[in-house]
Amino acid sequence: MILVSASEPVVLIETSPEAAAKRAADRFVEVVAERTADGGGNCHLALCGGTTPGDLYRHLASSDYSERVAWDKVQIFFGDERDVPQDDVENNYRMVSKVLLDHVPIPLERIHPMPADCRDLAAAAEQYENLIRRLVPAEGDDTPRFDLVLLGMGGEGHTASLFPDTPALAERNRLVTAQFVPVIGRNRMTFTFPLINAARNVMFFVTGGDKANAVAAALGDDAELRSRYPACRVEPHSGQLIFVLDAAAARNFQPT
Ligand code: 6PG
Repeated sequence: MILVSASEPVVLIETSPEAAAKRAADRFVEVVAERTADGGGNCHLALCGGTTPGDLYRHLASSDYSERVAWDKVQIFFGDERDVPQDDVENNYRMVSKVLLDHVPIPLERIHPMPADCRDLAAAAEQYENLIRRLVPAEGDDTPRFDLVLLGMGGEGHTASLFPDTPALAERNRLVTAQFVPVIGRNRMTFTFPLINAARNVMFFVTGGDKANAVAAALGDDAELRSRYPACRVEPHSGQLIFVLDAAAARNFQPT
C-alpha cells in the first residue's frame, strides 16, 4: 500500500482491486469507530451503488469487519439512486442490501432508501432532503454533515448521479435533486455538491484503468481539465477527502 498524502486529499493506492476494497473497508470501520466510540453519537453514512463497491460491501459484511461496527449507531442513506423499483436488479438499495445490509445487525429503521422511481421525482427529492435535515445534524451553517459519503466515479468523471453537462452540477441550494440524464436516457436522484462537500469524510473508492483519466484530473490542479470532470467538484469545505484506488485507476496520477 502506498500512502501519498497529497496537499489536500489522502491517496491510498493498492496493487489490486481486492486490496483496495479491504483498504476502503478499513477506512469505513475507522470512521464509524471514531464517531461511535465510548458511547458516542450516531454515525451518518451515505453509500453509493455501481459495480465497484461490491467487494467493499462484502468485506464489511464479513465477521472480520462487521463485528467492529456499531451497527445500532449507524444511519444509512444513499448518495444516489436509479429510477427503478427497490426490487429491480439495477436498484442501488437492493444491491447494498443483498451484499451488506441483509447480513449485519442494523435496525431496518436506520436504513433510508432513496425513492427515485416516484411519479413526482421533485417532490420525492425534497422529501428525502427533509429526512436528511431531520436526522443528520448540521454544523456551522444549516447543511447536514455526514460522517462519511462514499462515492464511485465514472470514466467520464460523474460521481453519485452528477453527470457532465447536467443541471444538478450547478445546484447550490438543494441538497438532493432529481434530473433526467441524457447520456443514460434515465432519471436519477442524487446528492448535490453542497451536501457532499459538507461531509466530515468523503471517500472515493475507484478501481480500473477506465477511470484513470478522471482520477488523475481529480488529483491534479489543471483547472481546465478539472472543469470537465464533475468528480473534481468534490472538495469538502472542512472534511477529509480520501481516494482509495487500485494501481490501474491510479496509473495516470503523478504525485507532485
Ligand atoms: C451508481 C453509482 C455511480 C457509480 C459510478 C461508477 O448509481 O451507479 O452511485 O455514481 O459510483 O457510476 O460505477 P461503477 O462502480 O459500476 O464503475
